[in-house]
Parts: sequence; C-alpha cells; structure tokens
Amino acid sequence: MAEPLVLAEKLEGGVGLLRLNRPQVLNALNTALMKELAEKVREMEADPEIGCLVLMGNGRAFAAGADIQEMAEKSPVDMELSEPFSSWDAIYRCKKPIIAAVHGYALGGGLELAMMCDIIVAAEDAKLGQPEIKLGVIPGAGGTQRLPRAVGKAAAMEMVLTGEPISAERAFQLGLVSKVVAPEVLLEEALKLARSIAEKPRVAVRMAKEAILAAFETPLSEGLRFERRAFYFLFASEDQKEGMKAFMERRPPRFKGR
Ligand code: HXC
Repeated sequence: MAEPLVLAEKLEGGVGLLRLNRPQVLNALNTALMKELAEKVREMEADPEIGCLVLMGNGRAFAAGADIQEMAEKSPVDMELSEPFSSWDAIYRCKKPIIAAVHGYALGGGLELAMMCDIIVAAEDAKLGQPEIKLGVIPGAGGTQRLPRAVGKAAAMEMVLTGEPISAERAFQLGLVSKVVAPEVLLEEALKLARSIAEKPRVAVRMAKEAILAAFETPLSEGLRFERRAFYFLFASEDQKEGMKAFMERRPPRFKGR
C-alpha cells in the first residue's frame, strides 16, 4: 500500500498530530494530499478525545506550496470544475484549535495553510513567504487576505509583490508567528502548547476561537456583541460552574468538556 500523504496520530493529553508526508517534494500540496488532510482534520474534529491539533511537515520543510507540477498546465475551466482548493476549507472551518509547527520552507500555499491554522510556532530555520508572483500568479488560498491581517499592509505588500521570504525572527516581530524555537524542540514546544489548550474547558475554547475569528469578519460593535453573547452562553456550561467553584474552593478544577 502507498504511504499515506498525511500521517495522523492521537497523542496523550488530548492532542491530534498531523504530518504532511511528501518529503521528497518538500510536502508540495497536491489535490490528493489536501483531500487526505481535510478528511483527517474532520476525523479529529469529531473525536471527543481530541482538544487541539498540531500540523507539521515531514522532512526538511513545512510545505513549499501548492504542487506546481500538478497546476502548471491547467486551464481556468479545469480549475473551476475540479475546484482543487475546496478541500482546504476544512482546515479553517475546524472548530478545534490547530497549531501549525513550521520549519524549513513555508511558501505559497504552505504559508497560506499555516495561516489557516490558529497559531503558528516557527523553528529558527523557517522561511515564510508568498513567492507566487515569481510564477506569474498571486496567492490563491487566502494569502492576500490573511497576510495583511496578520502583518499589516506594508509588510504584506512587500512579501507578496517581491515574493521574497522572511525569517522566523522577522515573522515573530511582525506578529505572524507566536513563538520562535530551536528546530530540535519545535515539535515538543508545539505539543506543550497544544496540551495546555486541550486541557482547558472545551466549550470555552470553541467560543474563544470563534470570537477571535469573528474579529476579522465583523465591525467592532458586532464583534463585541458576539463576544458578550458567547460570554453569557458559557454560563450554561458545566465547566463554567466547576471552574468558578474550584477557584472559590481553592482547588484545581475538574473539567468535563461540557
Ligand atoms: C512541486 C516542488 C515544489 C512545489 C519543491 N518541489 N517545491 N514540487 N511544487 N511547490 C520539488 C522540487 O521540484 C524538487 O523535486 C524537490 O521538491 C526539492 O526541491 P528543490 O527545489 O530541489 O530544493 P531546494 O533547491 O532546496 O529549493 C527549495 C525551494 C524550491 C526554494 C523551496 O523548491 C522552490 O522554490 N519551490 C517552489 C516554491 C513556490 O514557488 N511555492 C509556491 C507554489 S504556488 P525534484 O523531483 O526535482 O527533486 C502556490 C499557490 C497557492 O503555492 C495557491 C493556493 C493553494
């Protein structure tokens, strides 16, 4: 049987680990790989034992972009009819947090995939960029929209118009990644972060993710209204009662995820 294009593992502490597995082509994201990734994300989303996902790349890169070989000769009609990017939607629609652990190259669709996740942790050797302009195209999976929201207009313009990648350190300064760590401890650090999220009350985690994402979609007044409703809603969860009771009784909370 052929090697899976995405390796999925369920780890201790409520964490699901997904690894892109086409290392011979720097995890170039072809349609088959993205379909498999979408299926595995959906499975983990439905798994009550998993509270947080980690996504990384096998080999020397996170992902060097969409598969150029696969795309090169396509016509717009081929693209429209096959909708090669539709399976990507499962990533940003996932209700559980996803951490991208990025090392080596995160280019083009690779960076766009990382930006669909909720947190990016980068190894010191990471190079993040949108090189599509050098191929005669532009980012097509959210790069022109999510990058300026993450780093601001000037830095996004520079990255997209020149196609030049930035270092992990620069990405940290710009707020694109939340943490930069040594390559040897990248997975360990990402898993630590994931376990810390997975042990939190699950309903509140879902609401927090949804509310932060709403900040990018709505005017402030709408976002504030959404946040307040979500805050009130959480008083219907068992974990809110337990969390506040445990605080008052000076003991650790026992969350049920309900
Ligand atoms: C297909 C790719 C690939 C890609 C690398 N490979 N990136 N194959 N699609 N995006 C393959 C190479 O052809 C090569 O295969 C093998 O991976 C190793 O790559 P090398 O180029 O030999 O490695 P290196 O010299 O270290 O250079 C690394 C690199 C370079 C700088 C990352 O590979 C590169 O520039 N890649 C393309 C990056 C890019 O333009 N990404 C954007 C794609 S467009 P062989 O068989 O020769 O060994 C895009 C649009 C998104 O992402 C639209 C929405 C989804």
